[in-house]
Amino acid sequence: MSVMAVVGAQWGDEGKGKLIDELSARADYVVRYQGGGNAGHRVVYGDTEFAFHLVPAGILHPNVACVIGNGVVVDPRGLLAEMESLGQLGVDMSKLYISERAHVVMPYHAVLDRLEEESRGVEKIGTVLRGIGPAYVDKYSRVGIRMADLLDVDQFRAKLATVLAQKNRMITQIYNQQPLSLEEIHTEYVGYAQRLRPYITDTEARLHKAMTSGASILLEGAQGALLDVDFGTYPFVTSSSTVAGNASTGAGLPPRSIQHVLGVYKAYITRVGSGPMPTELFEGEGKALRDAGHEYGTTTGRARRCGWFDAVVGRFVARLNGFDSVAIMKLDVLDGFSTVKICTSYKLGDRELTTPPANTSELAACEPVYEEWPGWMTSTVGVTRWEDLPAKAQRYLQRVEELLETPLALISTGPGRGETIHRRELAL
Ligand code: GDP
Ligand code: IMO
Ligand code: MG
Repeated sequence: MSVMAVVGAQWGDEGKGKLIDELSARADYVVRYQGGGNAGHRVVYGDTEFAFHLVPAGILHPNVACVIGNGVVVDPRGLLAEMESLGQLGVDMSKLYISERAHVVMPYHAVLDRLEEESRGVEKIGTVLRGIGPAYVDKYSRVGIRMADLLDVDQFRAKLATVLAQKNRMITQIYNQQPLSLEEIHTEYVGYAQRLRPYITDTEARLHKAMTSGASILLEGAQGALLDVDFGTYPFVTSSSTVAGNASTGAGLPPRSIQHVLGVYKAYITRVGSGPMPTELFEGEGKALRDAGHEYGTTTGRARRCGWFDAVVGRFVARLNGFDSVAIMKLDVLDGFSTVKICTSYKLGDRELTTPPANTSELAACEPVYEEWPGWMTSTVGVTRWEDLPAKAQRYLQRVEELLETPLALISTGPGRGETIHRRELAL
């Protein structure tokens, strides 16, 4: 038996999808435990590029069962569209399972996401506008609709009528917009319920059985620890707990079942949306990183903000999650830089900080203090053995490993399956 959590360690888009696809070769189950369709996990397999938003990135392996866990918020329309397009590419959907306890993202969530963002003006968070925040708000306000409710047609109508009346008061009286129609939503969602019924099940019981019979289970994180609602750059965060501590809750597995937590970092750092980012680069190097890394959002197509590797937030996240090992992705993107930098502390006025301040305005005022390392100026694309890396790339990675205080297990050198260096054995 082995359960391993794969957790984003920066502001998302670290390359979790590529790793999950690759590690799935050794798994029986892959489980998404939080987030929703705000995630965009790209997997390159052969000549095809897949973008997963809700479906776990293990689905390309015919023997792997994939679970959308109770901690995920699911937009049925988006999920069905994703399943359909994957089906057209020949991907088998018969081993997809959705938790009865997962909350449903409803049309009023996306409407409120947009209206709330518009009302924030320059303070906007830059959400992906898919209703994720408002859906989690309803979950914790105890007015959410869960998959199990959707399947119970009469109960669904009653719950929807109550919550929609409340949402329509907000939409019309606070935002002066048109109310949404109960009949239309009801009819549409009853249709989705019928189509999703075969996939909705007691996933917690299924996973428990799998775990006790010795199955290998991968827990697939979405977003990253710096977008975590507690530990991220609040309020510029997502609305779920993205860290390893939530992997057990969001999947329905006991905390002590998780034997290995793998943290996923890029060899540099990126962010989409608003909020402080101490090592952000602009023209010149920032653009060079964006171009070399094709740093455009999988879900929204927005240009990602790019910067040097930030070991201050990196170590903070490694400690919080208790990473057993780390993966450094996209090493090849740094191939053309004659100098690469690592931020080792922040200057805030006359203070030097080695952990990020909780106060977000203070973090925004922090100046990065850099170490400079010579670039290797040679291609690492597709390298699969540590010994084949240029010595300067090895030194850079060893320094990152030292600063993160965590063993470096995997290094990724390209988007394709297999373009990875396995430096240490993983538990799975
Ligand atoms: P995720 O959200 O963490 O799954 O990451 P995304 O899929 O949003 O973004 C990572 C992008 O980098 C994807 O387009 C991947 O195909 C790509 N990628 C992953 N690993 C590597 C790598 O080692 N090198 C390069 N050049 N691209 C990579
Ligand atoms: P993956 O799983 C990068 C960002 C949004 C915004 C903030 C809040 O692909 O790594 P939300 O819609 O969640 O309320 O937006 O979080 N964000 C992500 N950034 N990768 C993601 O997912 C993200 N999911 C949300 O850009 O800044
Ligand atoms: Mg992504």
